[in-house]
Amino acid sequence: MIGKRRRLIVSLSVTAAAVTVSLGLLFLILGLTVFKPTDPITTVDSISLADLDFSVDVFKLRVYLNVSLVTNVTVMNPNRVGFKYSNSNAYLRYRGNDVGEVSIPAGKIGGRSTRNLSIGLALMADRLISDSDFYSDVISGRLEFQTQIRLSGKVRLLFDIHVVAYATCDLEIHLISRTLVNQICVYKTKILQ
Ligand SMILES: *[C@@H]1O[C@H](CO)[C@@H](O)[C@H](O)[C@H]1NC(C)=O
Ligand SMILES: *[C@@H]1O[C@H](CO)[C@@H](O)[C@H](O)[C@H]1NC(C)=O
Ligand SMILES: *[C@@H]1O[C@H](CO)[C@@H](O)[C@H](O)[C@H]1NC(C)=O
Repeated sequence: MIGKRRRLIVSLSVTAAAVTVSLGLLFLILGLTVFKPTDPITTVDSISLADLDFSVDVFKLRVYLNVSLVTNVTVMNPNRVGFKYSNSNAYLRYRGNDVGEVSIPAGKIGGRSTRNLSIGLALMADRLISDSDFYSDVISGRLEFQTQIRLSGKVRLLFDIHVVAYATCDLEIHLISRTLVNQICVYKTKILQ
């Protein structure tokens, strides 16, 4: 009698263990396939000069410069679930220093959809004027800038997955022709667990 009950308990625990292992495997496979997060794909479609004004005061040796850029970006979320982003920023850099910054309002991109963002960046000239290389660049007529867009968000699968997408573009502004040339962008995504 006792032997039979023990056998029943043993076979029940074996079944329970088998079910647990199968469920674990099922979740693992789902986690690696259906629920595997894929990085959002950021693409810079265009960067355009919205405004460029400059004047040189030869007597005071000063340059007055206003630059504003519009960067249009497409963010594609390849996941089945939404991508929520927050705390995002775009920066304008000159010789490694931030000379302009704008925050990108939080938003959500649905599963398997794209969203276009239009980001305006303006130069804070007082930060730039203190750079001594600025004068020689202005005299050469070419100013090199870098823009960086940093989108930080999460994809909710079995648990939240934090993703940061960066798009960094180098560009050159020609003062005399008022054009923006040589635009090269690189993209990077980091998954923070
Ligand atoms: C730059 O913008 C400011 C404010 O909008 C304006 O007062 C200034 O005249 C502009 N500078 C140039 C060189 O256009
Ligand atoms: C950037 O996006 C804005 C707003 O959608 C649009 O008005 C503008 O024409 C776009 N610029 C370029 C160069 O595509
Ligand atoms: C987003 O921008 C891309 C590239 O400029 C364009 O092809 C697409 O139609 C735009 N989508 C929307 C919803 O405006």
